Amino acid sequence: RDKVTIQTLQKLREAKVPISMLTAYDYPTAVSCSSNSSIDITLVGDSLAQVCLGYKSTTQLTLDQMIHHASAVARGTTHPLLVADMPFGSYHGSMDDAVNNAVRMVRESQIEAVKLEGGEEIADLVRRHVSLSGYKVQGKNVASAKALVRAAKVLEEAGAFSAVVEAVPKELGRYITENVMMPTIGIGAGPWTSGQVRFLASSFGTTRWAPWLGHKAKFVRRFGNLQTAREMGVQGYANAVKDGSFPDPQRESYTMNEAEWTRFL
Ligand code: KIV
Ligand code: NA
Repeated sequence: RDKVTIQTLQKLREAKVPISMLTAYDYPTAVSCSSNSSIDITLVGDSLAQVCLGYKSTTQLTLDQMIHHASAVARGTTHPLLVADMPFGSYHGSMDDAVNNAVRMVRESQIEAVKLEGGEEIADLVRRHVSLSGYKVQGKNVASAKALVRAAKVLEEAGAFSAVVEAVPKELGRYITENVMMPTIGIGAGPWTSGQVRFLASSFGTTRWAPWLGHKAKFVRRFGNLQTAREMGVQGYANAVKDGSFPDPQRESYTMNEAEWTRFL
């Protein structure tokens, strides 16, 4: 499949083909996303903090950690558009720092766009960033529907190429989608946004459920159970070592040529 670009997303939106975005935090997952021609966007979400690094909150994730993981994802990414979250704190200081941090992410990780969380308050930042490259913004949990719609419009005007709409009633997900030109990507925003994003831990059962992983959220459907598969592998290995059945001397061990062995002895 050809490389997905911002223009591709716009075309998918116009053709009413739902856009699929999935998170990846490492090389093997990036390869899985890339081997499936139906995935449009791979996102290195800051959910990396909880899902992959064992932190309790995304606020604990550093820029260096994000760059480290996004680089691994980039090495495994082919056609999907590669987007990464700017970590908490990396765009909350001065405008220059925010731009420098975004440039570092793009340069050091080879990502193609960054995603920021916020509403109207990040519009200036989006404006600055867009002059560098493509952009992506997230509207999240805004109490008032009007403020959310206004934020989406302001951010679009500022140059955002897409917006993630998170945890809003499905009617509002549709309303926002119909009132902006850019594709909207929903998570818990109903079926009528331009696309969907989910993170892997909840969708594929990567890890045991923990409250901060949000597995039990209403918008999550289980598409796999990686935790059980991994635990079965660990258990099988451990049992076989303990009961002496692994490694098998014939099938799973190297053998010395008999003449050599006799000479050795
Ligand atoms: O951090 C993340 O994984 C995300 C989404 C799932 C939208 O931001
Ligand atoms: Na995120």
